Amino acid sequence: MNHPSIRTVLLSPLLALALAGCGKQSDGGTAASNGSQGLKQIMQARGLSEADVEAALLTYRPTGKKDDYVIFASGGQSGQVLVIGVPSMRLLKVVAVFTPEPWQGYGYGGLGNKVLEGGNQHPGTQLTWADVHHPNLSEANGEYDGRFLFVNDKANARVAVVDLHDFTTKQIVPNPLVMSDHGGAFVTPNTEYVVETSQYPAPLGREYAPLSEYKEKYRGLAMFWKFDKEKGRILPEASFGVELPPYTQDLADAGKGPSDGYVFINSFNTEMATGGILEGNPPIESGASQNDMDFLHVIHWKKAEELVKAGRAKTIKGVKVLTMDVTGPEKVLALIPEPKSPHGVDVTPDGEDIVVGGKLDTHTTVYSFQKIKALMEAGTAEGKDGYGLPILPFQDSIRGQTEIGLGPLHTVYDGKGFAYTSVFIESVVAKWSLKDLKVVETLPVHYNIGHILAAEGDTVSPDGNYVVAMNKMSIDRFANIGPLYPQNFQLIGIDGPQMKLLADMPIGIGEPHYAQMIKADKLKPLKVYPMGTNPYTNQKDEFAVTPGKERIERKGKDVHVYMTAIRSHFTPDRIEVEEGDRVHLHLTSAEQAEDQVHGFTIDMYNVNLSLEPGKHENVTFVADKPGAFPMYCTEFCSALHLEMMGYLMVKPKGAK
Ligand code: CUA
Repeated sequence: MNHPSIRTVLLSPLLALALAGCGKQSDGGTAASNGSQGLKQIMQARGLSEADVEAALLTYRPTGKKDDYVIFASGGQSGQVLVIGVPSMRLLKVVAVFTPEPWQGYGYGGLGNKVLEGGNQHPGTQLTWADVHHPNLSEANGEYDGRFLFVNDKANARVAVVDLHDFTTKQIVPNPLVMSDHGGAFVTPNTEYVVETSQYPAPLGREYAPLSEYKEKYRGLAMFWKFDKEKGRILPEASFGVELPPYTQDLADAGKGPSDGYVFINSFNTEMATGGILEGNPPIESGASQNDMDFLHVIHWKKAEELVKAGRAKTIKGVKVLTMDVTGPEKVLALIPEPKSPHGVDVTPDGEDIVVGGKLDTHTTVYSFQKIKALMEAGTAEGKDGYGLPILPFQDSIRGQTEIGLGPLHTVYDGKGFAYTSVFIESVVAKWSLKDLKVVETLPVHYNIGHILAAEGDTVSPDGNYVVAMNKMSIDRFANIGPLYPQNFQLIGIDGPQMKLLADMPIGIGEPHYAQMIKADKLKPLKVYPMGTNPYTNQKDEFAVTPGKERIERKGKDVHVYMTAIRSHFTPDRIEVEEGDRVHLHLTSAEQAEDQVHGFTIDMYNVNLSLEPGKHENVTFVADKPGAFPMYCTEFCSALHLEMMGYLMVKPKGAK
């Protein structure tokens, strides 16, 4: 793997050499015909500076050369996850998570339908979108292990599990207690739990209560979803929640190293404003911005886990919940003032500090875990909130503050003692020293940066090398494509003494929130499935079909079709049923060659599958429309791809 720091050192002399060489070129020949000698002409013709060329050389991947890192980025309202290579910033895949996606055959009749149905909040009401916020990778000892990705849906309070062994969503878990979530889907350092915290307060369990009873009945929640790495699934029955005040909890992060066992959560409407503009109240935005301080919530989750095991939890809608009358006195939950309307809360790689950015404040505040822990254990508080929770003294909980600029949001880290904070209003990335809390450099980005991410940035040992600015606006960066503009990911090199803007990547699906970046060589996905694999059990499907054993079996109104796909035919290629029959297709790809994928669709029946090599799919549908329906392969799999088809013959009722 290339090391960017080495490249940077070598690059400038190389570039100088190339430029010196091409300076002698005077025949005006085309750039292409002159190879590297034409570099200066290309630069002139395209109006490129030396810095542009250097950025291009640092990010360009010639065909066949792979990227060093892979980003898993939120696909926002698309409900999906974007997979992007770094440094090339090439889009590699859109992983179907919460939303049906035809190319991956997800939600169009096959086995993936069950995963989507498992994510429904109300049985029978199919949710077909999500507001994806924060994809987070599974960890072992605080390092990304490349095995799973967890994704939260803010709009419908759900968490999904993507198995990176085949980049397939295996589980969607609806939270039965809350209406929306935001602080998720963060993991504890050994992925014991996937943490999901609520955003907009509502009565727990989603009962109705009027807004006039907000203080009494509305609540927040921190949900600790137990994850079983061997099964690759969240275990709802082994999970628990911690009740929170209705303070509109925001982002969250799990402690690591010395702070392992704790979780930190921001909040921003401790005023408990509920709007009512027509009733003469201030809008929520101003009602929620009255206090100078909101509350950082600290949860000692290992202690919470013990209390749940000791039977101290109350069961709400089948979920064990530790209520505030337990967590306050037991020193499991404490509050600390934090400056005005904070957004990001980010634990440092060494686990010693917690950095909070306040949207309406010009500082990042650096809390000291050791100080917090000592205060919590000693029961030192400057008072209690309206729910009896201890409020730790602000000045005694912090190590200091850094004057950052207008609108600091999120902070990520390199491995060299620097923090990088996104500054929304000023549209810059601010690099500052964790040691003396001083800003060393700011870099303008384009424009209005929200989240920021760094290479291996949330681990105990970030790589440095790159950060990515996830900008909300792109205004003048790209061709005008209508009033809905792409958002703009900007790759920034951070291995040198100064930050360098290297590449722009327009994001045509939105709105992306957080992302994480992992070393590419930590990902070890399958190339082909063993023949007949059901991807949702990772085992041979009970209906898997071996070539030569294809058949059609009728049992009353049920017609079972055992079918294989291999270049370039489906066997059987004729299926005859009667209108009203229930058709069960059991379809195995008999391919075992890498990248030999077939698709399978039946015209007019809204069925579409992706058959990666060796994969098995089961589809059941009622043949309720009579006719002669072509079924065909939707991937250009071979020279005879167009011939890879057959017919589903649905005889009208009463026909001979
Ligand atoms: Cu198989 Cu096209």
